[in-house]
Amino acid sequence: MQLSPSLFTGGIRVGAFRVPRSRASRSHREMREEINAALEPILYGAYQDSYQIRAALERAFAEEMQARHAVAVHSGTIALFIALRACGIGPGDEVISVGNSDISTTGAIRQCGALPVLCDVQASDYTMDPQLVEALINERTRAILPVDLHGHPADVKSLRAIADRRQLNIVEDAALATGARDHGRPVGAFADVTMFSFAPFKPLGSAGNGAMLVTDDAALAERIRLLVGYGHDPSGETAPGRQNYIEEGYNVPLDGLQAALVLTKLPQLPAWTAKRRAIAAALERGLAGTSAVTPRFRPESEPTFRSYAITVAGSSSQGSDRQLELYQGLRAAGIEAVIHYAPPIYDYSIYADTFPNIDHLPVTDRLARQYVNLPVTPELTAEEVEYMIEATGKILA
Ligand SMILES: Cc1ncc(COP(=O)(O)O)c(C=O)c1O
Repeated sequence: MQLSPSLFTGGIRVGAFRVPRSRASRSHREMREEINAALEPILYGAYQDSYQIRAALERAFAEEMQARHAVAVHSGTIALFIALRACGIGPGDEVISVGNSDISTTGAIRQCGALPVLCDVQASDYTMDPQLVEALINERTRAILPVDLHGHPADVKSLRAIADRRQLNIVEDAALATGARDHGRPVGAFADVTMFSFAPFKPLGSAGNGAMLVTDDAALAERIRLLVGYGHDPSGETAPGRQNYIEEGYNVPLDGLQAALVLTKLPQLPAWTAKRRAIAAALERGLAGTSAVTPRFRPESEPTFRSYAITVAGSSSQGSDRQLELYQGLRAAGIEAVIHYAPPIYDYSIYADTFPNIDHLPVTDRLARQYVNLPVTPELTAEEVEYMIEATGKILA
């Protein structure tokens, strides 16, 4: 059977954008020999090779994140759920999170049987406002789940002080922030568990799904491993006919093919992050004279940029006409702009009963009507960045 390319792309013409959201395939082509060599033993070697490569990725990633333990998981979505379960979150508990994220964040909380309690965000970098957290804590609160939106580190050091005082766990959603640093350390340094996603559009992407859970806590790491691996008692491994299950777990490890790809790409992460930061700096400078508002960061924060999320000042309070105008104008100019994390999570129909009449998140509300994301990928050229600046300026003028 002859396979047509449209079978793989759903009929969408790939490469149609002059400035696309992702050019990972270009980097993959440059690394073709290395990548093929890493995939080889998984496809043609012994079955154990797959486990070994996953373990090698876990060790290398833990080292990169300066953490004691890392567990490779099938996706960020299931990893967040596993992290919360490993922290003991269950029915009747409350977890404080944000309303401008992926549905995976609130989904993970609810799938544990717990209730997400949403906190507003800072207009400067779009992350959880630590000043507002304390007022949301009650006797049912068990954890805080901040999100490093677009790759911007949430102020987890401030949240840590609150969490320690109130005996709460912190599960950090760093899905978009692989490579970002805060207070001189990789993101995740102040959380109990941190999740990094390897979905294809993330700063360190696989070719499918994938994620890593990182922690310094050995007991938490063990519990995560147990849940990821069927709940199988690892101590029964060597006794034939005596295997035992000490938990009803899941079977959601990262698969070996994705692990091999991510492991091969990992050494490039610092250079790619530097490139993303340089592109963001160029966009910030170039857009300074326009009506676009660019994100602002704490001095200790060293974000990475999955995309460059600007907001369009002057959007009307009822509508989002300026936002759509910029989005459509950019797309017409061949720039694959997107509008991420809008509408806010609480506007999804699935949450009509969870967050009825929610009205205490004015910044989240406003940002959702104003965000437009410009593509940032390490493969972009200086000319392409300049072209984005020019096009944005023209549309906004
Ligand atoms: C902020 C955030 N958290 C979690 C996830 C879920 O990650 P994954 O796609 O690996 O399941 C995403 C995915 O886009 C995300 O953007």
